[in-house]
Amino acid sequence: MTTSRGNIIDGAGYAAQLRERLKRHVADLKAAHGLTPCLVVVIVGEDPASQVYVRSKGEQTLAIGMESRTIRLPYTTSEAELLNLIADLNAERAVNGILVQLPLPKHMSSLKVIDAIDPDKDVDGFHVANAGRLAVGLPGIVPCTPLGSLMLLQDAMQTYGDSFAGKHAVIVGRSNIVGKPMAQLLLQQDCTVTIAHSKTRDLPAVCREADILVAAVGRPKFVQGDWVKDGAYVIDVGINRIEIDGPEGKKNKLVGDVDFDAAKAHALAITPVPKGVGPMTIACLLNNTLKAFCLQNNLPVPEGV
Ligand code: GUN
Repeated sequence: MTTSRGNIIDGAGYAAQLRERLKRHVADLKAAHGLTPCLVVVIVGEDPASQVYVRSKGEQTLAIGMESRTIRLPYTTSEAELLNLIADLNAERAVNGILVQLPLPKHMSSLKVIDAIDPDKDVDGFHVANAGRLAVGLPGIVPCTPLGSLMLLQDAMQTYGDSFAGKHAVIVGRSNIVGKPMAQLLLQQDCTVTIAHSKTRDLPAVCREADILVAAVGRPKFVQGDWVKDGAYVIDVGINRIEIDGPEGKKNKLVGDVDFDAAKAHALAITPVPKGVGPMTIACLLNNTLKAFCLQNNLPVPEGV
C-alpha cells in the first residue's frame, strides 16, 4: 500500500468488476426465476455525443445478459408523443428501466419528461420522488454518476485505511444530475459538505479546504493543480472534448474538469479522464436496472447492488 501522492483511481477496472458481478446476478435470476431485466433507452434527435453514449449503454446492457431496447425518435417528435411513449413503457410489465437520454430537443421540457417516468423504473434516479428519497434517507434509485463516484471513493478509502466521517467534501457544480445528489451521498457518509458553483466567492480557496474534491462543472481543466490540498481525494466527473495540435494536425482529446497532471502532484488519489468516473456511470445504470427489476418483482436485491 502506498499513501504518497498521485495514485490513480482505476474507474475502468472497478467498472469491469462491477459489470462481472452484475452479469452473475443476471444469470442467477434467469436460472432461478426465468426472468431477465430489461432496460429501454429513448433518444430523441441526432446529438452526436448522445448517440455514442446510447450505443454504449445498449452494448453493455446486452453484454451482462440483460435485455436492451433502444428507441430512436426524430428531432421533430412532439413532447406529447414522447409522453405517450413513456406512459406505454410505464405500463409494460416486461420493461424494468426507462432512460430518456438528455439533452432533449429545445421544444421539450426535460423536467416534465422525467416527471412522466414511473419513479420505480427511473433508473437515472432523476425523478423528484427519487431525489426526495435520497434527500431524506429513504431507499430509492440513486443517480448513476454520483453513485459511481461514491463507489470509487469508498474503494480508495479502503485502500488507504481511511474513512469519510468528518472529512470536508467540496463539490464544484450544483446540477440535479451530479452536484446535488453527490452532496446528499457524502452527507450520508458523515462528511461536511460544501457545494460550490459559478457564483462562489474565491473558489480556489474553497477548493483548497477540500479533503475530497469533486469537480462537475463541464469546463475543461477548470480546477487548477494548486487548488488541490495535499493528500486530497480528487474525483473528476468532467468529460470534455477539446482540439489539440498534434504532429499530424489537429485532433480531438478527452479531458476532465481538473488539470490532471498538475492536480496529481498534490492529490493522494485522483480519477483520470478517460477511464475514471465515465465507465462507472454506465455500470451503475446496469446496477440500478437490476435493483429496479428486483424491487418490481418482489425479489431480494443482491448484496452490494
Ligand atoms: N446525458 C448525459 N448524461 C446522462 C445521464 O446520466 N442520463 C441521461 N438520461 N442523459 C444523460
